[in-house]
Amino acid sequence: MAREGLKVAVVGTGRWGKNHVRVLSSLRNKGVCSELIVCDVNKKIANEIAEMYSADKIYYDVSELVAHEDLDCAIVAVPTIYHHKVSLALLKRADVLVEKPLAASCEEGLELIKTARKEGRVFAVGHVERFNSAVLAVRDYLREKVFPSNDDIVFIFTQRIGPGPPGKHTLNLGVAHDLLTHDVDVVVFLSGKIPRYVTARAITDNSVYENDISALYEFDNSTIYIARASWRASSTFKKRVLMIQTKESVIELDYILQKYVIEKGLSQHISLGTFQEVIQAYRSKDTVTRELMLTAENEPLFVEDQHFLECAKHRREPLNSARWGYIALKCVECALQSSRAGERLEILWGDEERALINSSIIE
Ligand SMILES: NC(=O)c1ccc[n+]([C@@H]2O[C@H](COP(=O)([O-])OP(=O)(O)OC[C@H]3O[C@@H](n4cnc5c(N)ncnc54)[C@H](O)[C@@H]3O)[C@@H](O)[C@H]2O)c1
Repeated sequence: MAREGLKVAVVGTGRWGKNHVRVLSSLRNKGVCSELIVCDVNKKIANEIAEMYSADKIYYDVSELVAHEDLDCAIVAVPTIYHHKVSLALLKRADVLVEKPLAASCEEGLELIKTARKEGRVFAVGHVERFNSAVLAVRDYLREKVFPSNDDIVFIFTQRIGPGPPGKHTLNLGVAHDLLTHDVDVVVFLSGKIPRYVTARAITDNSVYENDISALYEFDNSTIYIARASWRASSTFKKRVLMIQTKESVIELDYILQKYVIEKGLSQHISLGTFQEVIQAYRSKDTVTRELMLTAENEPLFVEDQHFLECAKHRREPLNSARWGYIALKCVECALQSSRAGERLEILWGDEERALINSSIIE
C-alpha cells in the first residue's frame, strides 16, 4: 500500500552524507519526506548537519536509531568498510540506499542482498551517475538510434581522475572501489552487457590501497572497454569522461558538466586538396552537442534520492538496484585480482550470483 510522506534517516553525515541530508531536506519541503533524522557516531558532525538542515531528530548510534524509530527508509553514507555492518542492521527495519560501492567485498554484498530479499526491502546502491541527465540522454540515444539499426558499440573508454582522499584516509578502500565502480556501472547500464574478461594494472605507490588503476574489459561481442581511475593528480584536478565508439558515431560525455557530443563523421569528404581545404572538410563534421540545464532538480543526487523514496513508497525495484551494485563490485574485484595475478581473468559467476543478478530484489 502506498504510504504518504516517509520517515527517512541518513546514517553517516560526513563529506558525502551531508549532501544526502541537504537533498532530503528539500524533499521534505516538497512533502515527499515527512521526517528527517540524522545519525553519526561523531556527535559534533551529527549536531552541525542536523542544525544546518533542521533535522527532526539526531542519533549517535545506529542500534539506538533502529530500536527507537519506526523508519521507512535509510541512506547509508558511512565509510565503505562499515557498509555491511550498518546496512545489515538497517535492512531488518527499513528500505535502504547504501552508498557505492555496495560493500567492501562481494561476500558481504551477497549477504546484504540476500537479507534485503528475505525482509522484502527496496534496496538501492548509490550509483549516482545513473541519474546524470547526460548519461540518461546517451542511454536513450543508444536504445533509439544505435541498437535498433545495424550499428553497435565497438569500443568504450572512461577516465575518472581526482586528487583522492585527504591524508591517509583509507576507510573507503582504494581508487578502484571508490571511483572505478561508477564507470563500470555506467558501462553496464548503457551497453546492457556485463564484461567477460578483465586485464588490469594497479599502482599503489607504497600505500595500503591502489591509487591508480587501468583495466581492459572484454565483452562477448568483442567490444573492448578501457577504464582508468586515478588519484595521482594535483588537488585542483578533476576529470570524469566517457567515450563510446559505435560503427556510425563517436559519443563523448562529460559527467560533471552533464554535457555530451555525438559525432557522426564528415559530411564533406575530400581525398585531394590543399591543407586549408582538408581542414575545412574536417570542420564539416556532423555533430550534435547537448549541454543540459543545470538546475537543483536535475542534480543527480536529488534525482537519485527522490527516485529511491518513490520506489520505497510504491514498492518498486529501483533503477540503481543493489544487484547492479553487486555486478560493479564483482567487476572491480576481478580487476584488482587480475592486477595482483598479472594475468587476464575471466569474470565467472556462480549459480547463486546468477540467480541474484537476474531477478529483482523486491518481489
Ligand atoms: N556516490 C558518490 O558519488 C559518492 C561520493 C563520495 C563518497 N561516497 C561514499 O560515501 C561514503 C562515505 O564517504 P565520505 O567520504 O563521506 O566519508 P566520511 O569519512 O567523510 O564520512 C563518513 C561519516 O560516517 C560516520 N560514521 C562512521 N561509522 C559510523 C556508524 N557506524 N554509524 C554512524 N555514522 C558512522 C563518520 O563519523 C563520518 O562522519 C563512502 O561509502 C563513499 O564511497 C559516494
